[in-house]
Amino acid sequence: MVTSGLTPVITEYWDVADLSTLDGYRRLGGYQGLAAALRMSPDDVITRVKDSGLRGRGGAGFPTGMKWGFVPQGDNKPHYLVVNADESEPGACKDIPIMMANPHALLEGVIIASYAIRANHAFIYIRGEVPQAIRRVARAVAQAQQAGLLGRNIQGSGFDLEVVVHAGAGAYICGEETALLDSLEGYRGQPRLKPPFPAVAGLYASPTVINNVETIANIPYIIERGTDWFRQFGTEKSPGFKVFAVSGHVNRPGIYEAPLGITMRELLDYAGGMRDGAPVKFWLPGGSSVPLLTAEHLDTPLTYEDMAAAGTMLGTGTPMLFDPTVSVVKAVTRWLEFYKHESCGKCTPCREGTYWITGLLEKFEHGAGAEAELDTIADLCGQIAGRSFCALGDAAATPYPAAMKYFRDEFVAATHTPVDETFDPVASYVFAGVGAGAR
Ligand SMILES: Cc1cc2nc3c(=O)[nH]c(=O)nc-3n(C[C@H](O)[C@H](O)[C@H](O)COP(=O)(O)O)c2cc1C
Ligand code: SF4
Repeated sequence: MVTSGLTPVITEYWDVADLSTLDGYRRLGGYQGLAAALRMSPDDVITRVKDSGLRGRGGAGFPTGMKWGFVPQGDNKPHYLVVNADESEPGACKDIPIMMANPHALLEGVIIASYAIRANHAFIYIRGEVPQAIRRVARAVAQAQQAGLLGRNIQGSGFDLEVVVHAGAGAYICGEETALLDSLEGYRGQPRLKPPFPAVAGLYASPTVINNVETIANIPYIIERGTDWFRQFGTEKSPGFKVFAVSGHVNRPGIYEAPLGITMRELLDYAGGMRDGAPVKFWLPGGSSVPLLTAEHLDTPLTYEDMAAAGTMLGTGTPMLFDPTVSVVKAVTRWLEFYKHESCGKCTPCREGTYWITGLLEKFEHGAGAEAELDTIADLCGQIAGRSFCALGDAAATPYPAAMKYFRDEFVAATHTPVDETFDPVASYVFAGVGAGAR
C-alpha cells in the first residue's frame, strides 16, 4: 500500500490555468466519472463508494458509502444532497482551494452522489466570507447547466438535478451539519437534536446526505478508476489520499496531496522544513479542535487510526506546526476566544464554560493566574466535554487538557510572568490559525 510520496489526484492539474472552466476540466478528462456512473444503477454507485472505504474528510471520518446507504429508498419523499463548504475551523484551508482550483471535480461529485441517493436537488453551502469561491462554484454550475450536465434528463439518462449555491453568513457553528440545515432553511443556525439523523429527517424533514467538499471531490475519481485503484493508497482503515493543507512556521506552507499514512515528518520535508531550521515545538494534525502533539509524534502515520492511538484525531487533515517562538498558553487562549465567540449559546456547558475558561486563560496570558486555577480550568473542560449539545463544545474543551499534558510548566510560569515577556508576541498571535483558516 502506498503511504508515502505525493499523490496528486484532485490537485493534479492545479497549475493548468483553465482547469476551473468546463472546457479545461473536460479536456483533462473531467466528467468521465459521471458518464461511468450514469451507466451504473444508483445502488451500484453506492456499493462502489462503500467498497472504496472512503471516509468523510470534514473531520469525523465517517464512512461515506455507509452514510449514503442510510437514505431510505422508495419512501416517496424528496431526497437532498448538501455539500458542507463552510470551512471555518482555525487552520483549515483545503476546501476553499479545491473550490477555487477544481470546482468541476466537486460538481461532478455532486451529480454522481445525487444520482446515487436519488436526489433531484443539491445544495452547496459555502462560507460567506469567500465570495471568490462562491462566484467560482456558481460559474461552474452555470457552465454545467448550459452543457446539459445539470437540469432535466442529464446526458439522456432520465435523471434530473438542480444545484443551488448558497452563501452562509459567517458563523462557525453553521459548519455543524444540523445547524447548517437550519441555516439553509432560513432559521438561525443552531444544532438540532439527533436522532433523527439527517439521512432520515434532514433538510425540510426529508432524507438528506451532508458531505464535505473534499469527500465529494473524491467521488468522480473513485467511480472512474475503481476501488482497487483507490485502495492502493493509504491503509486498510484509512484508504485513499488526502488534500493536506500545511501551515504555520514552515518554509513552504501550502497544499500537499499525499496518501493517508504519510508521516508529518515527510510532509514537513515537502513543506521545506521549519522556518530557520527551528525545531517543531507542537503541531495539530487537523484544525484547532484536535489535541496537539509534539515533535515525538512526527513519525506517527497520518491516518484516522494512528492519530486516535496517539490521543488526537486526523480532523480536517490540515496540520499547523509551531516553533519555539510560540507560547502554548497564548495559542490555547486564542483558540478558546474563538470558541467562546462562536458558541451558539443553545446549551449551558458550552455557552458558560467557554466564557469562564477564556477569562481564566487571559489571566494566565498576562501573568496573573493562580496555580490552583489550572485545576479550575481542567474542571471546566471536564464539565463541557461530553455534556454539550454538539461537538463545538467538545472541541472547545480539547486544547487545554492536551496543552497541559505536554506543557504544564509553561502554564505554571505564566502564573507570574506575562507570556509576551518570554515569547514572540507576534508569532503567538499570527500562527494560532485564527485569522487564517477562521474569521
Ligand atoms: C462546530 C462544527 C463545525 C464544523 N464545520 C465543518 C465544516 O466547515 N465543513 C465540514 O465539512 N464539516 C464540518 N463539521 C462536521 C460536519 O458536522 C459533518 O460531520 C461533515 O460535514 C460531514 O461530512 P463528511 O462525512 O464528508 O466528513 C463541523 C462540525 C462542527 C461540530
Ligand atoms: S455545544 Fe456550543 S455551539 Fe453546540 S449547541 Fe451547545 S452552545 Fe451551541
